[in-house]
Amino acid sequence: MLVTGKEILQDAHKKGYAVGAFNVNNMEIVQAIIQAAEETNSPVILQASQGGLKYAGVEYIAAMAKVAAEKAKVPVAIHLDHGTDFTQIVKCIRNGFTSVMIDGSKHPFEENIAVTKKVVEIAHAAGVSVEAELGKIGGTEDDITVDEKDATFTDPDEAEKFVKETGVDYLAIAIGTAHGPYKGEPKLDFDRLKTIKERLNMPLVLHGSSGVPEESIKKAVSLGINKINIDTDIRLAFNGAVRDFVKNNPDVYDPRKILGPAREAMKEVIKGKMTIFGSVDRA
Ligand code: G3H
Ligand code: 13P
Ligand code: ZN
Ligand code: NA
Repeated sequence: MLVTGKEILQDAHKKGYAVGAFNVNNMEIVQAIIQAAEETNSPVILQASQGGLKYAGVEYIAAMAKVAAEKAKVPVAIHLDHGTDFTQIVKCIRNGFTSVMIDGSKHPFEENIAVTKKVVEIAHAAGVSVEAELGKIGGTEDDITVDEKDATFTDPDEAEKFVKETGVDYLAIAIGTAHGPYKGEPKLDFDRLKTIKERLNMPLVLHGSSGVPEESIKKAVSLGINKINIDTDIRLAFNGAVRDFVKNNPDVYDPRKILGPAREAMKEVIKGKMTIFGSVDRA
């Protein structure tokens, strides 16, 4: 069933587990995520980046995600990942998204507050939940590039002020994760996470979660992370399965035969994540 992001994440916040937010770019990915959620009885968030919407078309992504959500027995939210453009955000809301992220993290603090506040006002009027970002997450995403070394972690004082002034429903924080694969092992600032959770007492979001060791993810969940963004690990599963299949079956040219095993491989990776996040049997 289609629900808001807030509905899913308030329950996760109250009960102390996390829900996977998985990036979708085509039909096979949508199906892999929904099948994983149904098989594990997990609530789930389907999210599309601006790049994903550009690739597939917002109407196509919205239509596929809506069909998936409405057919599913588990709660499903449809979310815009890293929205930076007001018009694009409104377009997503008009197309039935139940959650949007306004990523004003590239702006100075006061300006981030201002752009976020504007989105909260229109999204809440439409019954849509809002995620914002404070601090800078490492790596590259769409049009935001932050050198990993320059990534600045979320300040707890600023976070408190930011939430009070903007009224966001959940907050993405920077505690040492980065988008894309990691070169070494990421070191997360758990003390900072603990402090922010105590001060804010609201759902918190971890970006760049692909490649983070299982134990670190579990610890982050125990300290208050409730939404965990995964894209890269899905891409790697897709890529590995397609390459394997094509290599072992050079004469097969039916897209269904090539993409079918990839869909299965993505589903298995996603089920594994849901188990680690603690969302299994929370639907
Ligand atoms: O946060 C970044 C996500 O992995 C989306 O990546 O902008 O290449 O679709 P993308
Ligand atoms: P990964 O690249 O680590 O999968 O992060 C995805 C993400 O944060 C999407 O917003
Ligand atoms: Zn992200
Ligand atoms: Na990552």
